[in-house]
Amino acid sequence: MTTQQQKIGTGFGAVSTADEVLQGIDLSGKTALVTGGYSGLGLETTRSLARAGAHVLVPARRPALADAVLRGLPRVEVHPLDLGRLEDVRTFAESFLDSGRALDVLIANAGVMACRETRVGEGWEAQFAVNHLGHFALVNRLRPALAPGARVVALSSSGHFMSGIRWHDLHFREGYDRWLAYAQSKTANALFALHLDALGAGVGVHAYAVNPGSIITPLQRHVPREEMLARGWITPEGDPHEDFKTPQQGAATAVWAATSPLLEGHGGAYCQDCDIAEPAAHDDMLVGGVKPWAVDPDAAARLWRISAELTGTDLFS
Ligand SMILES: NC(=O)c1ccc[n+]([C@@H]2O[C@H](COP(=O)([O-])OP(=O)(O)OC[C@H]3O[C@@H](n4cnc5c(N)ncnc54)[C@H](OP(=O)(O)O)[C@@H]3O)[C@@H](O)[C@H]2O)c1
Repeated sequence: MTTQQQKIGTGFGAVSTADEVLQGIDLSGKTALVTGGYSGLGLETTRSLARAGAHVLVPARRPALADAVLRGLPRVEVHPLDLGRLEDVRTFAESFLDSGRALDVLIANAGVMACRETRVGEGWEAQFAVNHLGHFALVNRLRPALAPGARVVALSSSGHFMSGIRWHDLHFREGYDRWLAYAQSKTANALFALHLDALGAGVGVHAYAVNPGSIITPLQRHVPREEMLARGWITPEGDPHEDFKTPQQGAATAVWAATSPLLEGHGGAYCQDCDIAEPAAHDDMLVGGVKPWAVDPDAAARLWRISAELTGTDLFS
């Protein structure tokens, strides 16, 4: 059973910031994990959760950089983790489980977009592997630490508009397209949250997918400036498009999904602008909304089975 993709009216919106949605919410004593929590949206997510009192773990592909960026923030710890390396995921998860600590919030935020063709692990396409499979393995391995009431938030994107799951060729053996690869990985993020919620509900774990909006961050590092201009993402002066969000605004929906009591009873929802997203009958990614292939429970179950087989992890089924 899928939650209704219908706005609930939250008092927040596209311009709300992560700090605003956390006003009045005390996260003292809570432990959160934010993958990639030292750049762009993840950095603002880490800052806001820490300011609200949470203890925040930041697994980082570049731990020295993460240490430098996060220095001085209270209750934040950095751990090495490349999501494209399942052995890293296992090492990190085992060490966390050994510590005996519980996790209240896990934000699967790290991601790579539109990179040139790259293979990781067993020849897997890197965007699918890093954005989806790495997080799939991480959440499954950390399952024993997810406390009842814990929430998992997966960062999807309106990039999912461009592709459902390519069941016939998940790893682009038949010709790589860097945008379709990103799109597939972001559909995978949404389907992951949907099925995780279905499986996790029995043990009190809920999951949500989030489209954060459009924000200029280091995510666009693989997109040439001319392409950014042609897509209208930046002006000739290099400023963001007027409808783009700031990173603090871009972090708001993930932080809201991780904490808002209004989402109780709406597990598995795909959210944007600090509310549940409506179905998208159009193709305007800036407007957003969600396509049917990203909230299809049968596709979510099928992707789960394939991901469990590929990663050798499945602690929820
Ligand atoms: N910005 C947007 O407009 C937008 C729109 C829709 C969705 N999103 C989603 O929001 C999330 C955050 O994006 P962002 O804009 O904040 O991008 P960002 O600033 O580039 O941050 C991405 C983070 O992911 C980390 N990462 C990349 N590859 C990794 C790997 N193999 N293992 C572990 N960590 C890895 C990066 O670490 P390094 O810096 O060390 O590589 C970085 O910390 C992404 O999932 C993205 O798809 C963003």
